[in-house]
Amino acid sequence: MCGIIGYVGDRTALPILIEGLKRLEYRGYDSAGLAVQENGKLAITKSAGRISVLEQKLNPDLAGTTGIAHTRWATHGAPTDANAHPHTDATGHIALVHNGIIENYLAIRTYLKQQGITFHSETDTEVLAQLIGHFYDGNLEQAVRQALHDLSGTYGIAVVSADEPGVVVAARRGSPLIVGIGRGEHVVASDASAILAHTSQVIYLRDGEMVTLTRDRARVTTLEAIPVAPEVQEVEWSLEQIELDGYEHYMLKEIFEQPTALENCLRGRMDPRNGIVHLGGLVDCSRELTRTKHIILTACGTAWHSALVGEYLFEELARVPTETEYASEFRYRNPVVDEGTTVIAISQSGETLDTLAALSEAKQRGALVLGVVNVVGSAVARETDAGVYLHVGPEIGVASTKAFTGQVAVLALIACYLGRRKHMSAAAASEFLAALARIPKQMEQILDRADQARAVAQQYAQRENWLYLGRGYNYPVALEGALKLKEISYIHAEGLPAAEMKHGPIALINKGMPVVFIATSGSQYDKIMNNIEEVRSRGGSVIAVATEGDRDIARCAEHVLYVPDTLEPLQPLLTSIPLQLIAYHAAVLRNCNVDKPRNLAKSVTVE
Ligand code: AGP
Repeated sequence: MCGIIGYVGDRTALPILIEGLKRLEYRGYDSAGLAVQENGKLAITKSAGRISVLEQKLNPDLAGTTGIAHTRWATHGAPTDANAHPHTDATGHIALVHNGIIENYLAIRTYLKQQGITFHSETDTEVLAQLIGHFYDGNLEQAVRQALHDLSGTYGIAVVSADEPGVVVAARRGSPLIVGIGRGEHVVASDASAILAHTSQVIYLRDGEMVTLTRDRARVTTLEAIPVAPEVQEVEWSLEQIELDGYEHYMLKEIFEQPTALENCLRGRMDPRNGIVHLGGLVDCSRELTRTKHIILTACGTAWHSALVGEYLFEELARVPTETEYASEFRYRNPVVDEGTTVIAISQSGETLDTLAALSEAKQRGALVLGVVNVVGSAVARETDAGVYLHVGPEIGVASTKAFTGQVAVLALIACYLGRRKHMSAAAASEFLAALARIPKQMEQILDRADQARAVAQQYAQRENWLYLGRGYNYPVALEGALKLKEISYIHAEGLPAAEMKHGPIALINKGMPVVFIATSGSQYDKIMNNIEEVRSRGGSVIAVATEGDRDIARCAEHVLYVPDTLEPLQPLLTSIPLQLIAYHAAVLRNCNVDKPRNLAKSVTVE
């Protein structure tokens, strides 16, 4: 996934483009570049490495008021100066930045080479820039339109020409693009974080649409040149929400935001006294959802872990057969989607390509398709029949934290909503919702003891192999804890159902190996205590997440991280937090880039 931004207006474009790139850097950060219209030419600067490297190369006197910029997560071609965006056509008069993958780039490249075109990069993107140049006959919008007709794959692009001052052409299919409507200026970007400093009035471009921007006008059309009357919306996030607010990293800020984020997520959606859940986003499909016979939860990464908690919640509260599918598997394995099937896609960004493709597959097979999404107006939110937003605020850190707990909370609400339309009593729902209402305060209690997680990281951050074990609702938490550690500290970690350890992985246990147990009170507590003994007897170092007041656990664990007591189905909302903190502190101690881990991006909009 990459970040792109374009500006046209009366202000000098350079500082706006650079500031926007910095807000988009979490989307990809292995190279960056920009193009500004200057004195009838395009001033292009690009570089491998972070935006700070690009800044060293820039001519600070660039005064042009129209330009485009890009920060890259490499797909085709290593992160080099030559492969950095923008890419140009043969004349150097047209420049383009791109987020996505062009699937037929080799065929187009071959065709253009036959026309005598020389290529200067290994990227798929350059093919599109050259193709636009190939079609260009004085009308940039038309040349972009013609080129996109020949393209297969995904794109979010912004294009400028040295011969058309004050014009930016943008288009999208499969990669997000938002247009910010300013006074006498327009900004187009991959997401709202690069726009909020300028305006909160936006147009969410839809797949197959393009827009021609001048200082005074944003003209939206389809690829077939049919005019579109766009809906101007208000972005619900504020600039301060995407600032660091004194935290060292966004991830730490977002871990500590979880009590507030969860309050925002739950606000207005539950009536514990009467055992009722209000989900406005499901009103139009409530009857069909109530009659559902089979639920498939589909997602990727951390969202898949929250989906697995959802599977247990739906089966326990609503008694509906539920399965959890990796989106990348679901889309290719010819799944059974029959009468009465509901598919729920879970995605923080709402732009993950595998999840979108799974959605499309489910829709084609006639399922009711719902979304559980954080980013308003994102592709998943638009492609589904109905859905529920997380409302946890923008999540900038690449490692997902508050979105995970937000997803679990929303899935708990949907499970209770459905359960009350089936066999769940008002009394049971009241107890469940009252416990859910207590979670934000209980999260604060855990965060007040955050130093205990740092102590664990200080002791074990240099160990290269960890195990995470949990049972029941805490099995997905074990998977999530392991993923957090892997993706930001680069330590190898594996999450397992605790009972599975004896079927092979126990061979891994050696002296001093950190083994994290989620051993909270509940139906399988005694079993997990047995598993702890199995590890201790082989020399493993036991780190336990346990329920406040449990003194037994302290006798068999080197470290105990306590969490308040709650109903078993809601424990993931609490037990995941110490694991987030352990991963965070381990990464800091290992001098890793916490918010921009190597090889990763915030949302994977490629296959
Ligand atoms: C989580 O820490 C990772 N950054 C990653 O697994 C992420 O959850 C996954 O790519 C899904 O993203 P989405 O929720 O935006 O669809």
